[in-house]
This record gives sequence, structure tokens and C-alpha cells, in this order.
Amino acid sequence: MTLFGTQQLNAAGHLTIGGCDTVELAREFGTPLYVVDEALVRENCREYQRAFRQRLAAVEVAYAGKALLTTAMCRLMHQEGMSLDVASEGELYTALQAGFPPERIKLHGNFKKESLIRMALERGVGRIVADSLVELEEIARVAGDMGKTAHLLLRIAPGVKASTHAAIQTGQEDTKFGLSIRDAARPGIKLAMELPHLQLHGLHAHIGSQILDTDAFKRAVEVFVEFLSSVREELGFDCEQLDLGGGLGIRYQEDDRPPSIDELAEVMAGTLKTACEQRGLAVPALVLEPGRSIVGEAGTTLYTIGAVKHIPGVRTYVSVDGGLSDNPRPVMYDALYRATIANKADREPTHEGLRVSGAHCETDMLIPEIALQEPEPGDILAVFGTGAYNHSMASNYNRFCRPAMVLVHDGQADLIYRREELADLVRQDVMPERLK
Ligand code: LLP
Repeated sequence: MTLFGTQQLNAAGHLTIGGCDTVELAREFGTPLYVVDEALVRENCREYQRAFRQRLAAVEVAYAGKALLTTAMCRLMHQEGMSLDVASEGELYTALQAGFPPERIKLHGNFKKESLIRMALERGVGRIVADSLVELEEIARVAGDMGKTAHLLLRIAPGVKASTHAAIQTGQEDTKFGLSIRDAARPGIKLAMELPHLQLHGLHAHIGSQILDTDAFKRAVEVFVEFLSSVREELGFDCEQLDLGGGLGIRYQEDDRPPSIDELAEVMAGTLKTACEQRGLAVPALVLEPGRSIVGEAGTTLYTIGAVKHIPGVRTYVSVDGGLSDNPRPVMYDALYRATIANKADREPTHEGLRVSGAHCETDMLIPEIALQEPEPGDILAVFGTGAYNHSMASNYNRFCRPAMVLVHDGQADLIYRREELADLVRQDVMPERLK
């Protein structure tokens, strides 16, 4: 069993994370419970900054908040010197509430409403990443109205297809995001340079997520440098910042071999420097927006096992007290997860072909097939690699309460997301007078 970060087995044979016994955590905070390994999150932030800064003069690493955002996570990112990528009013609000410096925030999204553009300009958000020509006009209009200058990056679809699940490929030409490099990107840059109240600092692309090789990243850098060299000649645009998004994959399965952060840095920085040199371009500041590779492996979800249903000659179902509402990824992307029984973590997985199912009124498979130690009601199942896009994509389906989240470090567990209560579920409900 591959252990991530600070995961270990203790004398009782239990899984520990950040020096905390997960069986105790389940008892204290209840299940389902998201457990976040603080040391591993910090280590990943530092590794990104080290690996890229060692190779390039100007680098900014912005954590992609969509992977997992709470006010405590914002604070942690601030402490680590990270910038922050937000993609909605809610994410921006969360960051500001946490006291995250607005000048280090980048605002994304392919449909930013006027209220969001206003909020960003009012609060002094560092960069707005414009996604379309219409949006450029809108940002210029709102900024003009407010007597402000909007500092922009322009999102480009570079026509680079990353090898990952189709639902999370975003760099190819056929995407809703950004201006196509073939035809729309040039007019976009021209417009951004011409419109008043806008200052275009650079270009942006995000080619996809959970990418397990460096080829597409290399290709994206090459495509951009070629493009930058042509738009410098044609439009006189000097790209000060090149933001190449996130996308580095993590280990969900034992045989997943994502490039290390260092390998990614070697390929991206190396390609950027060489390509710029060949074309006589100054190397732009490189901006990165990793999400999953910062928090993914640092997250573990603890569930309580309920019924174990054995259908002779068919299969065995192991039910847990969560599922689709706390992790929609298996259903949405056929995502596969590893797991162990936390209170039997020192034993070999002797029971094969088990299917872990959720507690929803759905065939919500959490893990279609896995080998585990003997599952018994009351056992604690630890599912690994759930730090990214689990809490952030959680729902209240079947009116389940969203689970609590704890940050563990050096034997200490701190609540960073309070478990939703039943009262939270009816808080937004309104009873019309005539139904009373
Ligand atoms: N920057 C931009 C503009 C993005 O759209 C994303 C992710 C990132 C950065 C961070 O990418 P990462 O390093 O996390 O791969 N819900 C899906 C993933 C969607 C990713 C959306 N954008 C999933 O659960 O797999």
C-alpha cells in the first residue's frame, strides 16, 4: 500500500495521518470525514515554488481554489506565499473573507457577471482573466464606469489536446473556454490593447486536468512562444506574463505515474527558455495554477462501513455512509480510488472483488472493484486521494449534510469545515403563506 505524505501505521495497526489516528478522528468528528494532511499541502506548495524558481527568474504559483477552498485553506496558501486562482463570486468572497491579499488573486470564469467584475475591481483583484471578446468589452465598460483600470490576462485555447478524461480536457480547439488561437486570439489581443481602462499583461491557457505526462505541457509552451513571437511582430504586443494553468495529475491508482513537480518544471521551464531564445523573445514571467497536485493526495475521506451484502456467485457490496454527495467523481468521470480499512490497515487485503457503494438512493458506486481486509459493519474505510474536487464538488443530494473537514498536523486535528447540520438543510427553504 502506497502511503502519501505523513500517512503511517501505528502500533494498533491503524492508519494515522499527521500523527492522528484516523479511527480516533472518525470517533471524534464522525463520518464521513475529510482529513487534510497539512504538511503535505505545504510541501507541495514549496516544491512548486522551489522547482520553478530554481529554473526561471520570474515565477508565480497560484493555487487553483476550485480544487478545495475554505477560509483556512486560503490562510495556508497565504502563509506559503502562494497566489490564488478563483473562479466564482463564492470563491472570491471566501478568499477575501480569509484576508487573502487581493492583488495576488486571479479571477477566472467564462461568464463573469457584472456584479462579479465590479466586486473584483472594487476589491483590487490582481488579474482578471478575460475569456471572450464580449467580456473584454464588458470589463472595459464596468472599469470605465468605476474610473478604474482592469489588469488582465487573456485566455487562449491553444489547440493542444491533453491526454485525460474528455470532461476535463480544455486546451483543444473545441472548448467553451477562451479565444481560439487560430482566429479569435489576435483580434482579442488587439481589442484588449485598444479598449480604454484595460491593461493587458499577458496570456493564459489551461489545457486540462489530471494529466499524467509532460507532452501536452511542452506542446502548450511551444505553441504559445510561437504565437507570442508572431503577435509581437503583428500587433506589437509584449507578453509580460504567461499563465499556463494547472493540470498535473496525481496518483489515484497504484500504477499511476504522474511526472513529479520537478520533472514538470524541467520540461516547462526548459522548453520556455529554449523556445524564447530561438525566437529572440524575452522570457515572460511564468504563472502556474495547480490545484489537484497541491491538495489531491493530501486528502483522505473516512467512512463508516454498514451492511456487507454478499451475493453468492455475483459479488459483495460494501456500503458506506457517504458517496455521491461527498465525492461525485466516480460517477462523473469514472474516477477510481484506492482505499484501506483504517482499523485493519496493518492486515493484507484478503477479500477481492468488493464493490464499495454509497448511501444514496442511486447506484452510487464509490469504488467499483477493490480488494480490502475483511469488511465488517462499524469498520472505518479510508479512501485516498480525495483532497481535490471532493469537498468542492459536494452536494446535498438526498438532503445529506456535507461532511466535516479536519486539518491534521503533528498529532493535532483542527476542524476547518463544520459538518452541516439538519437545520442547515432547511435554512434556505421558504414556506409560502398559502401553504401554511
Ligand atoms: N486553472 C484553471 C483555469 C482551471 O480551470 C483549473 C481546473 C485549474 C487551473 C486547476 O487544474 P488542476 O491543477 O486542479 O488540474 N472537477 C474535475 C476537474 C476540473 C478542473 C477544472 N479546472 C475533476 O474532479 O477531475
